[in-house]
Amino acid sequence: MRSFRLLLLSLAAATVLLSQGNAPITDSYEYGGERLTPQEREGRNTWYFWTGGGEKFWRGVAARTHGITDLLQYVDSRRRPERFKTMGVVNDPDCTAAAKPDEYGLWMDVCKAVDVPGIPSQSSGVVGLRKFPNPKFDRVVWDVNKYLKDPASVEPPYLIGMTCGFCHIGFNPLYPPKDPESPRWYNLSSAIGNQYFKEGTLFGLKLDAKDFRWHVANVQPAGTSDTSRFATDHIFNPNAINSIVHLADRPWHTETMADGTTRPVHHILKDGSDSIGTAGASLRVYVNIGMCSDYWTTLHDPISGTKMEQKPFRIALARKDCPDWRATEALMAGAEAFLKTVQPARLKDAPGGDRFLTKDAEVLRRGALAFADQCARCHSSKQPPAGTSDVAAWFRQAVQRADFLEENFLSNDRRYPVSEIGTNAGRALATNAIAGHVWEEFSSRTYKDQPAAGELKGLYNPVRTNKPINFQPPAGGRGYYRVPTLSGVWATAPYFHNNALGVFNSDPSVSGRMAAFQDAMEKLLWPEKRLGPRSMWVTSVDSYQPLESGYKLKIRQGTPVNLIANINAPQMQLLRNDNFFTRFIGGLIGKGLLYDALLRNNLSPDFVVDRGHTFAKDLSDDDKRALIEFVKTF
Ligand code: HEC
Ligand code: HEC
Repeated sequence: MRSFRLLLLSLAAATVLLSQGNAPITDSYEYGGERLTPQEREGRNTWYFWTGGGEKFWRGVAARTHGITDLLQYVDSRRRPERFKTMGVVNDPDCTAAAKPDEYGLWMDVCKAVDVPGIPSQSSGVVGLRKFPNPKFDRVVWDVNKYLKDPASVEPPYLIGMTCGFCHIGFNPLYPPKDPESPRWYNLSSAIGNQYFKEGTLFGLKLDAKDFRWHVANVQPAGTSDTSRFATDHIFNPNAINSIVHLADRPWHTETMADGTTRPVHHILKDGSDSIGTAGASLRVYVNIGMCSDYWTTLHDPISGTKMEQKPFRIALARKDCPDWRATEALMAGAEAFLKTVQPARLKDAPGGDRFLTKDAEVLRRGALAFADQCARCHSSKQPPAGTSDVAAWFRQAVQRADFLEENFLSNDRRYPVSEIGTNAGRALATNAIAGHVWEEFSSRTYKDQPAAGELKGLYNPVRTNKPINFQPPAGGRGYYRVPTLSGVWATAPYFHNNALGVFNSDPSVSGRMAAFQDAMEKLLWPEKRLGPRSMWVTSVDSYQPLESGYKLKIRQGTPVNLIANINAPQMQLLRNDNFFTRFIGGLIGKGLLYDALLRNNLSPDFVVDRGHTFAKDLSDDDKRALIEFVKTF
């Protein structure tokens, strides 16, 4: 009788599966898509394939930089065998390396034609970079060698645009690729963030170590993007491409908008500056990767940032004048619906993950209690109800519940002053969202009204080590970090907003991820294990920075990169012109003098990149080890 019922049940289940056509999709970008609604699928297509028309912008960048940044040369198929190793990008599983140049003399990956409904572009060979025909291409004047020498000289046959997936799609910790140079679609994860991406290779394609900009490109940690490169805030503050998980469980905060109305919003971005709603934040990123560039590039100087002060981007104007804005805006509900489906990878589900997890319930309990006492007030979206008298006891109970991790964003999504968090201040000092700057309309009034953070005391002074620096972060919104989620954090070391805490080992296997996790967690909980001043980014050989005038400013080997890269360039008029004074002063800087003046003009005189936070540093070693075991289960 029982077995008969079971048989009936399983028959019924099989019919449901068949009738919905739910055969698992195995080797296509739609991998796992059988679980998605049509709207979520459309959202995924947007996330993976939609460029918002940004390809025009990237063509402009290639011409303006004369090829230092050129997406078309970046995707050269001859790089395919080592794209992961050298550039940290993901090879498109539907493509192979070219055996010979194409009809235009360009080496382009050979890709299977994949029809994405409503999105007309082809793969460039790299996940997230899409190929379009260039309407300005003229076969008669085309000359491949001329182009490769200087992309400003002639229009190429293709334009290459960037999608959100370019940075956000990374390797799936649950199905690591056998060979990271040739992944299959099921080896990829939609929103974990590409932790291996070496952005410096994109922005320094043709530079060598004689050029200071090469050093800037090369010290940038893998897995980061300097999101205020265009439009620049004159601070070199590359930040981790974080995983986007548990979006549906992310806490809301009621904030006041520019027009005085209030609205519940998330604190998007490391500094929580994007605070007008998720769709607004996403549209801003499209602009940032090139959408509506005809308008956007009139608001700032896209390459050096020195020729004009930033002007605010007006959303109403973009909506009126830029068709790409309207087309993309219509896609954002789907994209958000898709992102809400993304769940973190759990170590217990990874191949061999069990080996790294303790079976000792007492250790786990101890770790959970340490988390309750030291971390949960910030790193949990489950918070005690208002009026709870014994908050500590509430957290101690909460962490021991079997469902503590369910629907928990593992962050309260609040902003804290960097003076309290203690990590490197660079990213918190970014100015693009403050009043009068380019993203003014994308931050709330509440953000702009935040009081100044406390003074940063005793910062390491790389010029005079016996004279520590005190720095007062300016007000207006700056000076804060939003608490990041810890979901799936076993798979995403190194840590902090700049990916600078812990080793980077370039190894997406489970054991590789666990080695990076262990190192970063030890440095987190035992601050004495950090590199401190040794983590500073410095130039490795003598170099020069070309100024607009043509003058080459000498920079000595061993110079902290941020001593030069964080200079408020528009204010340093003297160094921009090529006259007697420029040469005199430039000469002194080249000799290693006048560094005090550079420090005084530095927008973020904080050079040690693996600083802070130091919560739980005073726990016993056993408590710390237990805490690490508990964090592994997130
Ligand atoms: C060039 C790399 C790059 C591309 C392309 C990119 N992002 Fe990101 N993204 C980042 C980085 C870096 C961060 C972390 C920035 C921060 O939090 O300040 C991030 C973070 C985010 C976050 C999460 C922020 C949070 O608070 O958790 C969202 C949402 C997001 N991006 C949306 C998008 C959308 C939408 C697109 C496509 C229009 C996109 N990104 C394209 C680099 C990129
Ligand atoms: C006062 C709030 C607060 C407390 C308490 C706190 N954190 Fe954090 N945590 C933050 C903020 C803010 C950041 C982001 C700092 C940055 O990126 O510069 C962060 C970052 C992290 C990161 C890096 C995450 C990533 O993806 O890069 C880890 C890991 C972490 N915290 C673990 C812990 C642990 C474990 C504890 C308890 C011992 C703890 N935190 C206590 C606020 C807090």
